[in-house]
Amino acid sequence: MSEPKNLVSGEHILAFARSGDAANLSKALASNPSVVDYKSSSNGCTALHYASVNGHVECVKALIKANASHLPNSSGNTPLQWATQGKQHKVVNLLLDKYEEIDVLSQNFFGKGALSEAFDAGDVDTLTALLTHHSASEEKLVNKEDAKKLNALTEMMHVFEFPKSKPNEVWVVKVQEKAILETQLRNILGGVENANKDKTGLSIWGASVVLARWLCDLRENLKGLTVLELGAGCGLSGLSLGVVGSPKTLTLTDASPDTVENLQHNIELNQGAFGETEVSCCSLQWGDVNKWQESRKDKQKEHQQQEDDDDDAGEQKANARSSSIDTVFDVVIGSDLVYDKEVVPLFVSALKCLLTPKGNFYYTTAVNRAGRAELANLLLKHGFEMVSVMKPPTSYRRNPLRGVSQGECDLILTDLKQTEYQLWHFRRKA
Ligand SMILES: C[S@@+](CC[C@H](N)C(=O)[O-])C[C@H]1O[C@@H](n2cnc3c(N)ncnc32)[C@H](O)[C@@H]1O
Repeated sequence: MSEPKNLVSGEHILAFARSGDAANLSKALASNPSVVDYKSSSNGCTALHYASVNGHVECVKALIKANASHLPNSSGNTPLQWATQGKQHKVVNLLLDKYEEIDVLSQNFFGKGALSEAFDAGDVDTLTALLTHHSASEEKLVNKEDAKKLNALTEMMHVFEFPKSKPNEVWVVKVQEKAILETQLRNILGGVENANKDKTGLSIWGASVVLARWLCDLRENLKGLTVLELGAGCGLSGLSLGVVGSPKTLTLTDASPDTVENLQHNIELNQGAFGETEVSCCSLQWGDVNKWQESRKDKQKEHQQQEDDDDDAGEQKANARSSSIDTVFDVVIGSDLVYDKEVVPLFVSALKCLLTPKGNFYYTTAVNRAGRAELANLLLKHGFEMVSVMKPPTSYRRNPLRGVSQGECDLILTDLKQTEYQLWHFRRKA
């Protein structure tokens, strides 16, 4: 039996999809649904390829509605790969939503997959969509070149401004974060046993903005003192104190090597703004505290035997074996450090070891963090007194980023606006 004359052909479908004529495409598909997966005889492309690469979102929707399949062309390229090449992230999202079976790591006949295309195109929206897809599990992401490109894409430098008391004058603090994509990609929490794998410090957390502002207000009290930041992450709070105030020394620490490397970079970004304050960073894991304590006790015994008369009351040296910390500090600061109650004993031991008697601990936390109550409880049991626990002024949560709208700020400092924070001030008893 011959075909009716007015029946649309596959070539019509391809032409409508290529030109973005969604209305005619829909009509054609309604009149002849069997041509939805028609392939061009020259390259094996379907209408879904053409609509995707050109970003014709309505055509893609019409094809999806007509149950189009997601098929490779004669080079092994799928509509997803073409959409990625064309930086059509809306289409990428539509395809990933509809076709559950898509493997974003599958490759064409030349060994290239959608993920590599996205890296080459440098399109962050598409990359984010692909990398967060279930088929891009971490174990399968083995391409080192792609990983390098990913790192470059995820570094972002932000400029923070804090008002001085004089109108129209501001202090400026520059901070690089690295984790925009990485936090979505990888398991970011190291846990108690694997603090050096914790990636949370590659992002700037709202609590560090709140702490930075609190330290700006406390700067006169901290003049000439030695200050240590634990779990400094990107270092915003400590760096802000270094720029705004004049502590004698400022030591920024963290467990993860990637984070410490980024901290060093951020110190260099602000070099020249620290006045007389000596600013440095080093790696420090709270769990190493027992080693330091043992080492300190041994050293004290040795010291006593050798110099019986030497009783310098002002000496406050601790002998930390790990990293380069070999002293105790007048002040310890930290933001958003406890989010798992398992870590609380380690943290409190480290704090006791690093803070001088009568020394102050300033801490900001989100009110909903796990382990918060355990932390307060253990501090009280271990010789700390609670000086104050306060809600910060609402101004501490304002957008601090230079030249960035509130909407963009909400995307960068995602937790700052909605989260409730607390300001904790504890003092170690004599
Ligand atoms: C949520 S982030 C907060 C970072 C930064 N304070 C801020 O508010 O932006 C937690 C930080 O604590 C660090 N951390 C977690 N466990 C640690 C441990 N056992 N020893 C040292 N640092 C640790 C992480 O590496 C990370 O930088």
